[in-house]
Amino acid sequence: MTNASPALPTGCVLRPATSRDIWAIRKLVLLAKLDPTQLRWSQFSVIEFEGQVVACGQLRSFQTAQELGSMVVAPAWRGRGLGTYIAKHLIEVATQPLYLECLGSNLAAFYARFGFVPVSWRELPLPLKRKFSLSALAATLVRLPVTLMQYRQSRE
Ligand SMILES: CC(C)(COP(=O)(O)OP(=O)(O)OC[C@H]1O[C@@H](n2cnc3c(N)ncnc32)[C@H](O)[C@@H]1OP(=O)(O)O)[C@@H](O)C(=O)NCCC(=O)NCCS
Repeated sequence: MTNASPALPTGCVLRPATSRDIWAIRKLVLLAKLDPTQLRWSQFSVIEFEGQVVACGQLRSFQTAQELGSMVVAPAWRGRGLGTYIAKHLIEVATQPLYLECLGSNLAAFYARFGFVPVSWRELPLPLKRKFSLSALAATLVRLPVTLMQYRQSRE
């Protein structure tokens, strides 16, 4: 989908990523200190402004579920609705039960706006238990709370 919705700031366009976006995606994800694994450009949507990728997010696909991940808005663009726009788009195009993990309670509140609810470890599908176990361990080491969430329904 290519979308020049009025909900985005003028000049911003949401589109599927291409192979040429991979370094911009890696840079955004690494600078935000997010999980650098499974950054396949084909799973990403990006928002660009004047040819520059200013936001990204992806749906990692597993056998029976998907993970909304790698959500990053470039610092200069935060607080202008780009994160909301890309999250809603990814929710809309997801085809499997949708999960995410986030560090800290503030981000959980951000995702709750879209209809994500906290779930327990036991409720996760097996592939996501495996995937999230590594980051759960890392989060324990740095003493940050991890919130696991599943998309249930839009509140709007
Ligand atoms: C989280 C992030 C993607 C949000 O993007 P954004 O474009 O700034 O978000 P929006 O402008 O759509 O914000 C919508 C609302 O969410 C709130 N919000 C934004 N970021 C938030 C955060 N990190 N924690 C809590 N609330 C947040 C905003 O205050 C805003 O609230 P308002 O409508 O009451 O003013 C962005 O802050 C970011 O890239 N953070 C660093 C990477 C990261 O932590 N990614 C998430 C990994 S799980």
